[in-house]
Amino acid sequence: MRLKNKTALISGGAQGLGAAMAKRFAEEGAFVFIGDLKAEAGGETVDEIKKKGGRAFFISLDVTGDASWKAAMEAVEKEAGRLDILVNNAGINIREPIEVMKVESLDAMLAVNVKGPFLGVKHAIPLLRRGGGGSIINISSVCGLIGHAYTTEAYTVTKGAVTLLTKSIAVRYAKDNIRCNSIHPSTVDTPLMQQLFKDPARKAERIGEVPLGRLATDLDVANAVLFLASDEAAFLNGVALPVDGGTTAD
Ligand SMILES: NC(=O)c1ccc[n+]([C@@H]2O[C@H](COP(=O)([O-])OP(=O)(O)OC[C@H]3O[C@@H](n4cnc5c(N)ncnc54)[C@H](O)[C@@H]3O)[C@@H](O)[C@H]2O)c1
Repeated sequence: MRLKNKTALISGGAQGLGAAMAKRFAEEGAFVFIGDLKAEAGGETVDEIKKKGGRAFFISLDVTGDASWKAAMEAVEKEAGRLDILVNNAGINIREPIEVMKVESLDAMLAVNVKGPFLGVKHAIPLLRRGGGGSIINISSVCGLIGHAYTTEAYTVTKGAVTLLTKSIAVRYAKDNIRCNSIHPSTVDTPLMQQLFKDPARKAERIGEVPLGRLATDLDVANAVLFLASDEAAFLNGVALPVDGGTTAD
């Protein structure tokens, strides 16, 4: 069991990639807290984990709110007594190109994708430090490494911010034995992509940019996050790890 006796909080863990991470973490022995806006989907993921003998708990969390993060950390401390792993996974993409993007859409993306992980780190650090250290994993994207032609400017801006938030935390909190790394997936077929993939040409376009010739699976991403969360990655800090079948190497 690679996460035995560890407690993890995964934002946006109700569905998609976050749910895959939650299930994988629980299989490896972690007590998993799912923080999300979606209580029903979150509850279903918790039930699924429990049915398989895992430990999981749903927390109502809006990552854009300072008070919401504070309450989430208090709930983790009350239920588990400690925090070892934070995964800042919640993210959105409003697909409006820069020339027509509404300011409200930009504000919403900055709030969830940048302010969200920022506040998550802010509120996790004291709890991680109290437990002797831990691992923070921020979910960025290939769009946090390159100017990706198929996405929006707002998405690359927010995901690029996550890349450097990660490195700043990595250097500042290494002294507290807190590691911080980011994961950069290429396109994964999750609910986030369903609208776009109604057009088969858009799906083919995305597959075409991957040297390994397929989309990422949620398990590809969850396994990479699991590795960074585990003690196997004890000397990995400040790393931006692509999970992209070679996309950003091209
Ligand atoms: N799917 C992809 O192709 C892909 C590729 C690269 C990176 N990513 C990133 O991976 C992460 C997860 O993506 P996904 O595809 O699983 O998305 P998804 O839409 O399937 O799931 C995102 C989850 O985040 C939650 N969420 C949204 N706003 C929230 C808020 N304010 N507070 C709390 N929870 C909130 C949603 O309720 C949902 O459960 C995102 O950060 C996304 O940018 C996804």
